[in-house]
Amino acid sequence: MMESNPNPISSSLLLFLLFFTPTMVAPLGINYGQIANNLPLPENVVPLVKSIGATRIKLYDADPHVLKAFANTGVEFIVSLGNEYLAKMKDPSKAQSWVKNNVQPYLPATKITCIAVGNEVLTFNDTILTDNLLPAMQSVHTALVNLKLDKQVTVTTAHSLAILQTSYPPSAGAFRRDLVNCVTRIVDFHCKTGSPFLINAYPYFAYKGNPKQVSLDFVLFQPNSGIVDPQSNLHYDNMLFAQIDAVHSALASIGYKNVCVQISETGWPSKGDADEAGATPENARKYNCNLMKLIGQKKGTPMRPNSDLNIYVFALFNENLKPGPSSERNYGLFKPDGSQAYPLGVPAINAASTNSSSSGGSGSTPSASVPLPPASSSSGYLAITSDSVKSLSTVQLLYLAPFISLAHFVSFGYTTCNTNVCIL
Ligand SMILES: *[C@@H]1O[C@H](CO)[C@@H](O)[C@H](O)[C@H]1NC(C)=O
Ligand SMILES: *[C@@H]1O[C@H](CO)[C@@H](O)[C@H](O)[C@H]1NC(C)=O
Repeated sequence: MMESNPNPISSSLLLFLLFFTPTMVAPLGINYGQIANNLPLPENVVPLVKSIGATRIKLYDADPHVLKAFANTGVEFIVSLGNEYLAKMKDPSKAQSWVKNNVQPYLPATKITCIAVGNEVLTFNDTILTDNLLPAMQSVHTALVNLKLDKQVTVTTAHSLAILQTSYPPSAGAFRRDLVNCVTRIVDFHCKTGSPFLINAYPYFAYKGNPKQVSLDFVLFQPNSGIVDPQSNLHYDNMLFAQIDAVHSALASIGYKNVCVQISETGWPSKGDADEAGATPENARKYNCNLMKLIGQKKGTPMRPNSDLNIYVFALFNENLKPGPSSERNYGLFKPDGSQAYPLGVPAINAASTNSSSSGGSGSTPSASVPLPPASSSSGYLAITSDSVKSLSTVQLLYLAPFISLAHFVSFGYTTCNTNVCIL
């Protein structure tokens, strides 16, 4: 069932089902990273994205080829400004010309809904970068206001989960003390402008850091007995939800109970080095397929049961030019040739292959029988998913948890995510 079917009739049927029935999977987001020299052309990526039911894409830049290819597809975009842009974007005139050149021309055909300014800036511990972050976000927002685009496009930034000092139990979630002031000002910006708080969360790093003690079933969303938060009495049967609720608690502890939290990256590598425990196709399949199922069920986390999960899986493709350990190059749901990196539980399609006859159907835009040149790698923005800046502290804290005092615990009522009004 996972292989593409050589029978033309059932192939058409598959494509029909794929493109003309309401997708079974609810708002799934996917990160489209392009640190690679062998990826298919963006036109050929459209059917791949549709095949997994993804309706939102996060880019690490504002690649015009991608934004054009996805015009009139209904797919929503978060575009990004890399950390190397922050100093420039502080200057309102530069921010305005960036928005004018990189966002405005693609609206409204391409549904750009958000600009992420910087990635995991606060956990680089770089004072200049950190100091530039909020001013850059403000300039970009002001540019949107000036261009009358601020109602449709919001401004945010993506954080590493390592901005948390405490992440377990979820009710004790707290920000790193040295970051509290900075995070507070950023969250205040979100409240005033109605933008989401983005966090990159990788239970994989918790497992990799401590494979003997972390339950694989707990991190892979497999059936398991889970944990009970001793303060809230809420039951958690997977680590990602515990991590998300730790962020909710941390936000509440600085006075923001009603900020919309979205998971801008999460994923699991299908391959890694000898010392990277758990990086296998089977674990990656379980993590991502179980996660997609959960998203489809439209259930929230224990603290926010009525809020949809807003999650962007990392990533669409394996990226062969990413630096770091092998796992970094193997987070993709798809290989560069468009085949599934492991069975994804949806029909495979041949959209990115050179054989256009097999991609057929009205949903795709095959490039006839012309062999596909690899799309050029994009701006060189490095999506940092290195474990040095990710959630290693999470697992340490997870297992130190029984010894950590719960003094920081704040009790609060939970509300849903969709309103822009912040309750202080
Ligand atoms: C940044 O600083 C924090 C707190 O001092 C430390 O725990 C963390 O390891 C540092 N991160 C990096 C990437 O240097
Ligand atoms: C395209 O089709 C030819 C002949 O059927 C086959 O040999 C080749 O492997 C196919 N290429 C791809 C990329 O699927």
